Amino acid sequence: MYYFLQRMREEDIPRVQEIERLSFTMPWSANTYRRELNTPETSRYLVARSSPTLPPDETPEPQPRRSGLLRALLPTVFTKPSPPSPYPIVGYGGLWLMVDEAHITTLAVMPSLRGQGIGELLLNGLIDQAIELQATRLTLEVRISNESAQRLYLKYGFEPSGTRPRYYTDNGEDALIMWTGPINEAAYVERLEELRERLALRLRRQAGMPV
Ligand SMILES: CC(C)(COP(=O)(O)OP(=O)(O)OC[C@H]1O[C@@H](n2cnc3c(N)ncnc32)[C@H](O)[C@@H]1OP(=O)(O)O)[C@@H](O)C(=O)NCCC(=O)NCCS
Repeated sequence: MYYFLQRMREEDIPRVQEIERLSFTMPWSANTYRRELNTPETSRYLVARSSPTLPPDETPEPQPRRSGLLRALLPTVFTKPSPPSPYPIVGYGGLWLMVDEAHITTLAVMPSLRGQGIGELLLNGLIDQAIELQATRLTLEVRISNESAQRLYLKYGFEPSGTRPRYYTDNGEDALIMWTGPINEAAYVERLEELRERLALRLRRQAGMPV
């Protein structure tokens, strides 16, 4: 199976909410998503889709700040308006920008498809969106008990930097706050390129493509 990213569109919201309900106990309303989608200058939301064959050739979004290598590995964020997609949504994620900080607000993958690199693909897409919005760092909150998500974030340079006690109102769980260092510095860009190369190989292998 091939996985690729697209900007979330309004018609994607019902499917996103299905995945959300399977992933989180405090889902957002459709209106909240609509509001986020209507403010692309500060909010960016992506969906990951699956395809049994190589996804069609669509016009990639211009990525002026992305290096040639990154462009070659992850050329798959499309924004061109198009008819309803035949490719099922398998995950989604989003962020909003506050001054020069990009806050990851949500990230989830269909439970049956976890562990195949889709969450990592989405996180890469979000990092690209943050770069495009000229954010210099990324941050997020994650449940203290959510070790798998924390491992994903640690892998991409997020470091724990404190907690928000009883942040989650459903069970009173604390949130761990995580921050990256500067994402525009050479050290981070190099690390990202290495991780992306590995992810691209993994996804190609999984799809049965030559590596
Ligand atoms: C967190 C989540 C998005 C990860 O997506 P995924 O597609 O399953 O993850 P990937 O296959 O891309 O894994 C990427 C990395 O995440 C970490 N990870 C993912 N699943 C893990 C698990 N079960 N145990 C430990 N680490 C795990 C690893 O670091 C992994 O890298 P590796 O394969 O090199 O070890 C997914 O588990 C999910 O939707 N969880 C429920 C919603 C959620 O908790 N979202 C985060 C809110 S802050």
